[in-house]
Amino acid sequence: MSMRSWLSSVALLFSLLCGFFAQAQTQPVDAEGHQWWQNAVFYEIYPRSFADSDNNGVGDLNGISSKMGYLRDLGVDAIWITPCYPSPQVDFGYDISDYENIDLMYGTLADFDHMVADGKKHDVRIIMDFVPNHTSDKHPWFLDSKSSRTSAHRDWYIWRDGKGPGQPPNNWISLFGGSAWKFDPTTNQYYYHFFYAQQPDLNWRNPAVETAMLGTMSWWYQRGVAGFRLDAVDTLFEDPALHDNPVLPGKNAQGDPNMENKNNTNFPEVHTELQKMRKVADESGAVLIGETWTSTAAELDCYYGRNGNELQMPMDFMFMMVDKLSPREYRRQIAAVESAHGWPVFVINNHDRERSYNRYGDGKHNDEIAKLMGAFYLTLRGTPIMYYGEEIGMRNNDPKRREDVKDPIGRTGWPKEKGRDGERTPMQWNTEPNAGFSTVKPWLPVPPSYRTHNVETESKDPNSILNLYKKVLTLRHSNEALLDGSYTALNENDTHVMSYLRSYKGKAVLVTLNMSATPEKPAFDLAKQGFGGAKLKALIASPGALLQGNRITLEPFGLMIAEVKP
Ligand code: GLC
Repeated sequence: MSMRSWLSSVALLFSLLCGFFAQAQTQPVDAEGHQWWQNAVFYEIYPRSFADSDNNGVGDLNGISSKMGYLRDLGVDAIWITPCYPSPQVDFGYDISDYENIDLMYGTLADFDHMVADGKKHDVRIIMDFVPNHTSDKHPWFLDSKSSRTSAHRDWYIWRDGKGPGQPPNNWISLFGGSAWKFDPTTNQYYYHFFYAQQPDLNWRNPAVETAMLGTMSWWYQRGVAGFRLDAVDTLFEDPALHDNPVLPGKNAQGDPNMENKNNTNFPEVHTELQKMRKVADESGAVLIGETWTSTAAELDCYYGRNGNELQMPMDFMFMMVDKLSPREYRRQIAAVESAHGWPVFVINNHDRERSYNRYGDGKHNDEIAKLMGAFYLTLRGTPIMYYGEEIGMRNNDPKRREDVKDPIGRTGWPKEKGRDGERTPMQWNTEPNAGFSTVKPWLPVPPSYRTHNVETESKDPNSILNLYKKVLTLRHSNEALLDGSYTALNENDTHVMSYLRSYKGKAVLVTLNMSATPEKPAFDLAKQGFGGAKLKALIASPGALLQGNRITLEPFGLMIAEVKP
């Protein structure tokens, strides 16, 4: 066989294999026609803070690979890794200077390939974070763009003249503080940045930008990535006429006037681009998750696409933003996302928000509340995305002094805004120094609670948060009603106890969660749901929960997940 025909046979085999994998990824996994990601549990990893294999104080990809067994055992099917591409790390990776490589701090492309392979061995898929809105100001595209008004990449970013000397083109404010325009003396124009000045916005009205970005996504799919989490999608487009934004009363934590981002977010063109990204994803059977900040269910609904041709998994942040344990509020939020035309995606934590352990904890029952929240969102109809450490009850460890803050917004906004360091601290593996994350001082300090809240200690305690998560995830993966069943709110007037039924083809699971500090005794009549006379059998319960006929006694923040036996 000549070299040429050998190469073409290899290429053919490769494309057949790719076709096979793409098909395998889009094959329904159950009788309901669900795709793999609908039955999967996702887990967000902040790579700086998960596991430090080379003991330099910062986590890395080999560290992640070494924990695949842990993730599998926990019940995780896919990990979303926040950006690990080469980056000056101003926004800890969200300022990318090369989309098709790995930052040396985290390893190499070879380490990445090993991680994908290790993931495959453990049935854990890899989701990368994709940042389409902006690059780093050190990206070669931007360096070229700023070099002259006629450079090849000039129009890849948004450059404008100021309104007058020292005056930016309009009143738009950066989310991270100050004007969203930065003057560059080389060409005497301003460039636009929705986030930090080191994160210039790409000009998505230039087709070359679209081509480059879609090409990059495809490049990663071919490397074995199972999908992307798309960063800040609502900010991709701006009003080309640069109309000022309406100013609202008051100031934000950075001291800027409050503003309605009417003319620089949420443009309909975003949806056209999402459809194109989806097309590329579909060729590889990949999934697209969206960082979709919306204020109404209708807005969230749009992100699925009119024909289900945009994001498969737009995150429902309205659920995450519920700031108290209120069954009424949760019922409202769940009903809203249930009314949308896509598959719900639930999140209670991420790397931008104070951890749920602190937000919902009452200072007395924090561990019980952490278990309650886990039992809650992991048994809803939809796909959950966990955040590392949530399963062991990690708490925020906010900086105590301004000089300790790493996240730039914490320095400029201090003390009102302490930044996001607190929710990004190292994973707590055991009771060794630095919680077993690293043998040297980690980039962020672990909180003292690591002595009790860590993987090793909690693994041995049957009543730990970790073991509750494991039990719920095991049930979720095997129980048809939890995987495929409908959601029906129960006892809707109850203001203390959140209860619902998940039912599927004559089988059902009842979930009841006491969201209050008082003991409660909810009773259930399931006749209306077609389960009149059915018996309840506890599957997972808090230590004080008691089942008597159709009545369940729950201690403060107690919970029960019960099988409904016809
Ligand atoms: C997203 C990320 C956040 C980042 C920002 C800018 O909101 O979640 O961490 O700072 O985008 O890329």
